[in-house]
Amino acid sequence: MEELGISESVEKVLISQDDLQRRIRELGQEISYDYAGKTPLFVGILKGAFIFLSDLIRNISIPCHLDFMQVSSYGGGTDSSGIVKILKDLDISVEGRNVIIVEDIVDTGITMKHLLELLSARKPASLSVCTLLDKKERREVDVDLDYVGFEIPNAFVVGYGLDYAEYYRNLPFIGVLRPSVYETR
Ligand code: IMP
Repeated sequence: MEELGISESVEKVLISQDDLQRRIRELGQEISYDYAGKTPLFVGILKGAFIFLSDLIRNISIPCHLDFMQVSSYGGGTDSSGIVKILKDLDISVEGRNVIIVEDIVDTGITMKHLLELLSARKPASLSVCTLLDKKERREVDVDLDYVGFEIPNAFVVGYGLDYAEYYRNLPFIGVLRPSVYETR
């Protein structure tokens, strides 16, 4: 698949760069307040959350640590396979730590439920979730989300770290992918 031009592939800008930065500043302030006196461990879920996490931690005003995990649930299409594989595990132990999972988007909730089960079994002091986007309408399993950037409608979105078949992660905004891009594949 070749990447099409932005205007041919992105139907509309759903969340602008300015709106992203404004909301992420608020989330950073809220988390810094909630975790004052602690050193939370931010666990970024690769690859989608890497841009969000890098902006988020620059808005955290308390000491914090950072690690990454990579899981995969989508085989390159737009629907979750329901099978969650760990592609890269953490380097830092979460035992006794205040862990904040940082995700780009919660869709069916299957990935997050799996991550929560996996990490809570490792005995963190606390475990919470911060997701940039919440596609609530599509939820198949219940998950508690502590910090949500934006609730979005049921559309496939790309940009700001989120991809379709590895493309579009570099867009500085969140855009809705034209259905024709994936329907013709
Ligand atoms: P879930 O397990 O269905 O909640 O899916 C979570 C993962 O699916 C996210 O971490 C994303 O990688 C991917 N995903 C879900 N919806 C979208 C979307 O609209 N655009 C890009 N990736 C998505």
